[in-house]
Amino acid sequence: MPVVPLKDIVDRGFAERYGVAAINVFNDLTLEAVLAAAVEERAPVIVQTSVKTVRSIGLDLLFAMWQSLTSGIEVPVSLHLDHCPDRAVISSCLAKGWNSVLFDASSLPVAENQRQTVEVVAEARAYGADVEGEIEAITGVEDGIGSDEVAQRQSLPAALEFIRATGITVFAPAIGNAHGVYHAEPKLDAQRVSDIVAAEPIPIALHGGTGLTDAQFADLIGRGCAKVNISTALKVTYMQSSLAFLRGAEERGSWDPPSLFAATRAAAKDMAAAHMRRFGSAGKAW
Ligand code: 13P
Repeated sequence: MPVVPLKDIVDRGFAERYGVAAINVFNDLTLEAVLAAAVEERAPVIVQTSVKTVRSIGLDLLFAMWQSLTSGIEVPVSLHLDHCPDRAVISSCLAKGWNSVLFDASSLPVAENQRQTVEVVAEARAYGADVEGEIEAITGVEDGIGSDEVAQRQSLPAALEFIRATGITVFAPAIGNAHGVYHAEPKLDAQRVSDIVAAEPIPIALHGGTGLTDAQFADLIGRGCAKVNISTALKVTYMQSSLAFLRGAEERGSWDPPSLFAATRAAAKDMAAAHMRRFGSAGKAW
């Protein structure tokens, strides 16, 4: 099963109450490693790209990498644009072939966010693509987008009205989660996920996955968080495994870039595979 709509992936996870790892990659090595982990674990996976990654690699090259690395792949995979407030970037990614986008208009008043999200959903549908929506910012800065201020949460009726009016595929509520490294144990409002799902059964995106515990993942996935975002953990794994390897290279006086790539690739693949197992998506490929 090759590249599929994001809806196909999250709907199954939601129905069977497992979480699909949605991992932010930032170069060819991490893209290949995440896909290799999915194949090895027989897990569906969502590959995410930040706007920063799209800009740094370039739309055409990034999509060519995706096409090449997913050609003939045997597990369901989907390409998603993470937090994007910029409608022009959304349009470019959809036209190029991204399967899904997170239109992040959380800085706008909810009514205007909703009006524009309706437009983005219509645009995406024309390509057979999906849209994730949010009405309050997730705390923390991710690849230059967001703020460390904790956003005020909207009411349950406002969230339900947004979900129903826009026709989004995935909803991303703020529940006390945050992007980046947690400096204190987060106080998660898991009940908010249950309240939304009870009133409107829609797959929920859990942002800020790095640093949450197995118990928190299990609880939130059980309540309907079918898309579990991981970004910081891959960055940390990549940088720390590179650092460890380079320290060894210095000691040995041996400077062989492909050996460095092999070491960081193995660490990235292991980290991605471990998350797939933690979220219960290993073995769920169809
Ligand atoms: P972390 O960086 O905390 O893993 O969060 C990832 C995320 O939510 C991407 O949108």
